[in-house]
Amino acid sequence: MRSKKTAKNNLIVGVDLGTSRSAISANNRKKRWVDSYVGWPKDFIARKVVGKSILFGEEALVNRLSLNLSRPLAYGVIKEGMERDEEAVRALFEHLIGLIGADKRSHVRAVVGVPAEALKANKIAIKKAFSDYTDSLMVVSEPFAVAYGLEALNNAMIIDIGAGTIDFCIMHGTVPADEDQRSIVMAGDYVDEQMFTAIKARYPDADFNLEMVRQIKEEFSFVGEPEDRVEVNLPVASKQTLHDVTDEVRIACESILPAIVETAQELIANFDPQFQDEIRKNIILAGGGSQIKGLCSYLQKVLGEDGPAGVQRVKDPLFSGANGALALAKDMPKEYWSEE
Ligand SMILES: Nc1ncnc2c1ncn2[C@@H]1O[C@H](COP(=O)(O)OP(=O)(O)OP(=O)(O)O)[C@@H](O)[C@H]1O
Ligand SMILES: [Mg+2]
Repeated sequence: MRSKKTAKNNLIVGVDLGTSRSAISANNRKKRWVDSYVGWPKDFIARKVVGKSILFGEEALVNRLSLNLSRPLAYGVIKEGMERDEEAVRALFEHLIGLIGADKRSHVRAVVGVPAEALKANKIAIKKAFSDYTDSLMVVSEPFAVAYGLEALNNAMIIDIGAGTIDFCIMHGTVPADEDQRSIVMAGDYVDEQMFTAIKARYPDADFNLEMVRQIKEEFSFVGEPEDRVEVNLPVASKQTLHDVTDEVRIACESILPAIVETAQELIANFDPQFQDEIRKNIILAGGGSQIKGLCSYLQKVLGEDGPAGVQRVKDPLFSGANGALALAKDMPKEYWSEE
């Protein structure tokens, strides 16, 4: 019986299950994140080379040639029916709770944030993956977790710009319903692909991969007029050569703007007309993509054409989902929990 566990093993955690990064925040004040990769050695030579039976995050990426690598959360959800992905999510979760000091003997109460529209379809698969490690579990939408952590519970809109999806959620003083939420499958990964294609078109001789493009994006992303030129070293016939990629970075980052504007406008327009201005004035950007330079002011300007608008971004995009999920886990009344 689990009730024999000691109080020391009681942990409350908030988890943000992301396509590219997963984060955990716990009531023992520990918080950790990991790139959402899990890898198993391909054969016994690989096992000898990597020295472990399973690898996570950055370490898995670095050793990818020796591994069967899984990025299990397509668009932030478990690909149902894919046994290896389900196993990878289970392992990732075990790894995350291990990082904050829990183990299989711990009593874990967890709130897990997943993308808004995927929530319904994948709740069962997600619960299945975590049930070995949790005593009580609740699955919520990522942007709702972010909103809760910021106490933006009334007349606010969260836009969570992740790797696989951009999730929108309107908060109006209650737990958000389906019609308050929207996901679009065009986010950081899409920007990477656009940037890769644009750079390749301009510099066909340059040798680079998607991972290098993502690094360029994370360092130089911007929308609007450039403040400086973006120049990066890329090998040409194995010789490092400086390339100007300013226009390509801009075009790729701007490629997600029309969909963001349109979806935000649509959600606001569907809302009670008396509160539309209030929501437009209180838009909060979260997720890794919220760090794109010039994004807040661009959205404020364009949405401002419909009425007064205010757009800001969260201070800690890496942990805002996990921190919010933890706050929820601490506050949530008993009847909301499903006991495992
Ligand atoms: N400075 C930056 N500028 C632009 N994009 C960035 C920056 N830093 C990180 N990103 C991008 O943000 C994305 C990761 O964000 P986040 O960790 O919120 O996603 P996720 O939660 O894993 O994905 P999802 O919510 O779609 O499941 C990646 O595409 C990453 O390249
Ligand atoms: Mg996310």
